Amino acid sequence: MLRVAYRPPAAALADMLRSALLCAALGLLRAQPFPCPPACKCVFRDAAQCSGGDVARIAELGLPVNLTHILLFRMGRGTLQSHSFSGMTVLQRLMLSDSHISAIAPGTFDDLIKLKTLRLSRNKITHLPGALLDKLALLEQLFLDRNELKDIDQNMFQKLVNLQELFLNQNQLALLPARLFTNLGNLKVLDLSGNNLTHLPQGLLGTQAKLEKLVLHSNQLVSLDSGLLSSLRALRELQLDRNHIRSIAPGAFDQLRSLSSLTLSRNHLEFLPSALFLYSHNLTLLTLFENPLEELPKVLFGELAGLHELWLNGTRLRTLPAAAFRNLSRLRALGVTVSPRLSA
Ligand SMILES: *[C@@H]1O[C@H](CO)[C@@H](O)[C@H](O)[C@H]1NC(C)=O
Ligand SMILES: *[C@@H]1O[C@H](CO)[C@@H](O)[C@H](O)[C@H]1NC(C)=O
Ligand SMILES: *[C@@H]1O[C@H](CO)[C@@H](O)[C@H](O)[C@H]1NC(C)=O
Ligand SMILES: *[C@@H]1O[C@H](CO)[C@@H](O)[C@H](O)[C@H]1NC(C)=O
Ligand SMILES: *[C@@H]1O[C@H](CO)[C@@H](O)[C@H](O)[C@H]1NC(C)=O
Repeated sequence: MLRVAYRPPAAALADMLRSALLCAALGLLRAQPFPCPPACKCVFRDAAQCSGGDVARIAELGLPVNLTHILLFRMGRGTLQSHSFSGMTVLQRLMLSDSHISAIAPGTFDDLIKLKTLRLSRNKITHLPGALLDKLALLEQLFLDRNELKDIDQNMFQKLVNLQELFLNQNQLALLPARLFTNLGNLKVLDLSGNNLTHLPQGLLGTQAKLEKLVLHSNQLVSLDSGLLSSLRALRELQLDRNHIRSIAPGAFDQLRSLSSLTLSRNHLEFLPSALFLYSHNLTLLTLFENPLEELPKVLFGELAGLHELWLNGTRLRTLPAAAFRNLSRLRALGVTVSPRLSA
């Protein structure tokens, strides 16, 4: 059980003396320079790890303001209060996962100007206040996955110019504002899987020239519109499986010259536009299985010297046009079993 009773400075001093004596007694001379709160472990210098307790009473733990790493988990339901991390201007990593945080007060992270990682995974957050992240200009990783977010303010990430990894997966997002990622020019990983997205607005990914991994599986996307992906010159991995995609715009992948892995399985594709993968020279893995594909266009692939695996099982293909496969010289695995109508 977490004890969070308010401790006056004298008591804190007594604690400090006690822990100093204890350390000396145990010969742990390299141990903490601060008294570790009772509910916490302070194994490393400048770091504290606490579990259990009340989300609303974090300030009362009395954590030193000069910590660089804080990990709090398995806290009860409640609202994160605005003074929880007051004065913690050197904090670099803040992990607040696996709890029941339902809301966060505006200003809660305003002092955390050195923060590089913020993890709020596996909570019950439904909404984030508008300017919550505006002071986190050095933030590199933001984990908001496995919450109950239904929408996000269009300016939510506008100050996060150094952000490299953004995890929004497993929420209930149905719509994203077109300008949401505009200032995230350094983003390398974006995970939006497991949401309720039915379409992505034009221009959403217009500034992500450094994005390497885009995860969109397990949504309800119905189409891939032209131009949506055209700025993603560094993209290597694109996961679009388990959506409701019926149509893909011709040339949708033409600009993705670095693309190595593409999953389109478990969608509603009945046909593919001609020459769809003509410029995907670096593809090594392509999955198309479990789509109601009736036939493949005569020209589909360019010279895909690196393509090792192509999964076409669970489709309605009757024949595989030999010509279409002529360019796939290095194919090691062609999955076509359980395509009941395949005869040739
Ligand atoms: C952090 O503050 C404590 C006092 O609260 C002090 O003993 C310790 O030396 C400080 N650590 C650093 C790295 O400044
Ligand atoms: C999202 O989808 C899930 C299941 O598909 C559903 O339970 C939930 O109500 C949806 N949420 C929104 C905001 O549409
Ligand atoms: C294609 O892949 C190779 C090796 O994996 C890599 O060296 C090359 O830069 C990639 N091409 C592009 C356009 O990314
Ligand atoms: C093979 O690739 C070349 C370009 O690399 C393309 O012009 C040609 O149409 C492709 N052939 C087939 C049958 O897909
Ligand atoms: C198709 O192949 C994939 C990959 O091996 C597999 O996960 C999937 O279950 C297969 N689907 C069918 C209908 O056989």
